Amino acid sequence: MADAPNGKVTFVGAGPGAADLLTFRAARAIAEADVVIWAASLVQEEVLQHAREDAEILDSAAMSLEDVVAVYERARAEGLRVARIHSGDPALWGGTQEQLDRCAEIGIDTEVVPGVSAFSAVAALAQRELTIPEVAQSVVLTRLGGGKTPMPPGEEVREFARHGTTMAIFLSAARSGQLVRELLEGGYPTDTPVVVAYQATWPEELIVRCTVGTLEETVKEHKLWKHTLFLVGPALSAHGTRSHLYHPGHFHGFRKADPQARRALRERGASGAGT
Ligand SMILES: C[S@@+](CC[C@H](N)C(=O)[O-])C[C@H]1O[C@@H](n2cnc3c(N)ncnc32)[C@H](O)[C@@H]1O
Repeated sequence: MADAPNGKVTFVGAGPGAADLLTFRAARAIAEADVVIWAASLVQEEVLQHAREDAEILDSAAMSLEDVVAVYERARAEGLRVARIHSGDPALWGGTQEQLDRCAEIGIDTEVVPGVSAFSAVAALAQRELTIPEVAQSVVLTRLGGGKTPMPPGEEVREFARHGTTMAIFLSAARSGQLVRELLEGGYPTDTPVVVAYQATWPEELIVRCTVGTLEETVKEHKLWKHTLFLVGPALSAHGTRSHLYHPGHFHGFRKADPQARRALRERGASGAGT
């Protein structure tokens, strides 16, 4: 039967740009590939150093979904391994679902390798924890509506801003005026801290701190309209209370609580063991 070869497509999260932010698993998937599909504008070229010398290298910038699917069909027919490189984590705004669905239709095996998302990379560069006890315990990953992709009802930045927690806002630098309007309408005070990150982990990286009130002028001053991520929220400058996890009064499967510290914690309203 002509059906025998199978092949495999591995969707590889390549991180925010810097080649040394690849995981070992990502590097191995690239090294094992017969065909590597990547986007030069989204991932640094050093990532290709992991590829075999005889691997076929294709730039996805010049390819439609149909072109990419044609490569997957060939891989299925010839039993080839494809590494499809995506920036950051493939689970976020990567267009991966439509490809996974097409692979299922073709009948080729697939695997997804997670990557370091831009929001994690920017938090690391800013040296900020996004979840500070009693200040912010949630992170909203979102984008501004109004571009090519309309937002589902209730997912406008203005709606998420009402929670007042940490937001990581992707794909929105070109409409910084609208972004500020929605953040303010949602209720963030103008002095809410913001980290603006352009091309994080690339040589041209720019990380600027500002506030919701100065966000628009900051973006315009630096002429940022793409490859920019915003972290917004009080956690970006707060220190909050100490976490329970490392408190001497907190117990868990691997550590006993100090009884006196435990009483002190209880007086502050903490309950049993937790994480
Ligand atoms: C199509 S989305 C892909 C997101 C990616 N899957 C991730 O997990 O980071 C592209 C957007 O991610 C953000 N982004 C990705 N890499 C970035 C970087 N190195 N520096 C700043 N923002 C970045 C920007 O908001 C950019 O417009």
